[in-house]
Amino acid sequence: MRSANDYDSVAQLYDVYVRADFDLDFFRRRVSQYAGPVLDLMAGTGRVSSTIQRASGRLTCVDISLEMLRVLRRNLAGLVPAPLVVCADIRSLPLAADRYELALIPFNSLAELITTEDQREALNEVRQVLRVGGHLICTLHNPALRLQSLDERTKLLGTYELPEDRQLEVWIRGSVDRVTDVACSVQTYRIYGSRGELEAEQTQEIRFALIARESFEGLAVDAGFRVVELLGDYDGSSFTPDVSPYMIWTLEKVE
Ligand SMILES: C[S@@+](CC[C@H](N)C(=O)[O-])C[C@H]1O[C@@H](n2cnc3c(N)ncnc32)[C@H](O)[C@@H]1O
Repeated sequence: MRSANDYDSVAQLYDVYVRADFDLDFFRRRVSQYAGPVLDLMAGTGRVSSTIQRASGRLTCVDISLEMLRVLRRNLAGLVPAPLVVCADIRSLPLAADRYELALIPFNSLAELITTEDQREALNEVRQVLRVGGHLICTLHNPALRLQSLDERTKLLGTYELPEDRQLEVWIRGSVDRVTDVACSVQTYRIYGSRGELEAEQTQEIRFALIARESFEGLAVDAGFRVVELLGDYDGSSFTPDVSPYMIWTLEKVE
């Protein structure tokens, strides 16, 4: 399998420090508008899957990290009907063609494919597995706003409780290469024991592309989609280049 950001080593900690829920109502509402099979791509530990599973019966979850999927299976255990869980690279999906009515790529995940070629391959694959008229909702950062926090300063993301009175501290340092427009977020995890002693420390580097609006739209159209909607935030506001934190794209597969 080709290289991707390695989430295996942080899979057991991901749900402890990723508390984001700002997008979940949006996805819950959107998914409830579709009756057919739904695909959650780059699904991780199932942060979004576990929400939409309640809104939509038939769900397939795909991720490249076996360890993230191990946690996802645990998080989604007992849900009926059980989702189909597939370990695969989004650039090569082992799924039936023309099957899905809706595919999701939440949480800026497509940007973790840092080259245009890889993004193109992923969009082509997603198009293959969607029905004609089916939709892809893909959420990305707005580069203009995201750039502001890529300032090379080390910041404390937060301190989180772990079992047995232990604590997790997560530090984060974001930078960007303005030639390639590839950002790097270095995340340092420190686990402290019940007496405050440092038990373990590890570092993860997440690389992601800052994808401009025009560039993504071009890729989507080349891959055989039409843009149905571009929102700038999860409250439903339209995208405004200098103001919106996100680009929330709804694309439709055209024949
Ligand atoms: C930021 S996490 C998002 C997880 C989840 N969607 C969420 O909202 O919390 C990005 C996920 O993308 C997965 N990923 C990275 N590259 C991938 C690829 N090429 N194909 C499939 N999954 C990939 C990672 O393993 C990770 O679980």
